[in-house]
Amino acid sequence: MTEFANWQWTDLEETSSTNDEVKKLCATSPTGKRFVVTAARQNAGRGRRGRSWVSLEGNLFVSFGLEVVPADWGRMTFIIGLSLLEAVLEVAPQADVRLKWPNDVLLNDRKVSGILLEKAAGDYLVIGVGVNIVAAPQNDNILYPVISLREAGIRTDRMTFLQVFVRSFDRNLERFEREGFAPIRENWLKHAKNLGAGIVVNMEREQKNGKFAGVDENGVLLLKTPSGIEKIYAGDVFYLKEKEDK
Ligand code: BTN
Repeated sequence: MTEFANWQWTDLEETSSTNDEVKKLCATSPTGKRFVVTAARQNAGRGRRGRSWVSLEGNLFVSFGLEVVPADWGRMTFIIGLSLLEAVLEVAPQADVRLKWPNDVLLNDRKVSGILLEKAAGDYLVIGVGVNIVAAPQNDNILYPVISLREAGIRTDRMTFLQVFVRSFDRNLERFEREGFAPIRENWLKHAKNLGAGIVVNMEREQKNGKFAGVDENGVLLLKTPSGIEKIYAGDVFYLKEKEDK
C-alpha cells in the first residue's frame, strides 16, 4: 500500500465519519503533523448544512487534517476542488468535468463529489471529501443531480483515485504556500461552470439571480445583478437553462 510523504495515513474498515477520526487525531497529536484518514465504510457520513452523506461501499471517503490559519479556510475549498478536478482529468483526460461554487465537482453536469470543512483543535482544519467512484447515492435529500465515475465510463477504484488526488492536492498546497491564492483562483475559474452566465443562488432566507462574475481574493462569489456586483458568502448555486439566461 502506498504511503503519502506529507501525511500520516490511517485506513479503516468502518467508522462513523472520517472527519470524526481526523478530529480525534488533531486533538491528541503534536502540532505540525498532517493527517489523512480513509474508510471503506461510513455509517454516519455528514454532508454540508446538516445533511447526511449516504456512503455507498466502493466510493471514496477521505478526510485531511492540517493546520491552516482561519483566514485561509475558505480558500482551502478551492484548492481541494481544483485538486479533485485535476485528479479526474488525470484518470480520464477527455472527461467533461467542471467546478461549481463553492465546492462541488461536476461530471457531465452532475455532482460527483462533496467537500465538508469542519474546525478541529487549535488551528486544525478538517477537510472531508466524498467521491462517487462506483455509485451515486439517490435519496430525497439530494439538491443537485448526481453521478459516479463508473456511470460516466471512468473505471478506477477508491485507492487508485486517492493516490492521484493526494498528489494533486500536495502540488496545489505547495503552490498556494509559495505563490498565494491568485494562481489557484485563476485555475479554478478556468474550470468553473457558467462563468459570465446566469446562475441562481439559494441562500438561507432568499434567492438571487444574476451573472456569475467570478470569485474574490477570499473565494466569495461575485454575482452581477441589476444593482451591481453583490458578494455572496454562502448558498447553493443552480444554473439557468440557456433560454432563461439572457
Ligand atoms: C456535501 O454535502 O457535498 C459534502 C459531503 C462530504 C462527504 C465526506 S465523505 C468523507 C467525510 N466524512 C464525512 O462524514 N463527510 C465527508
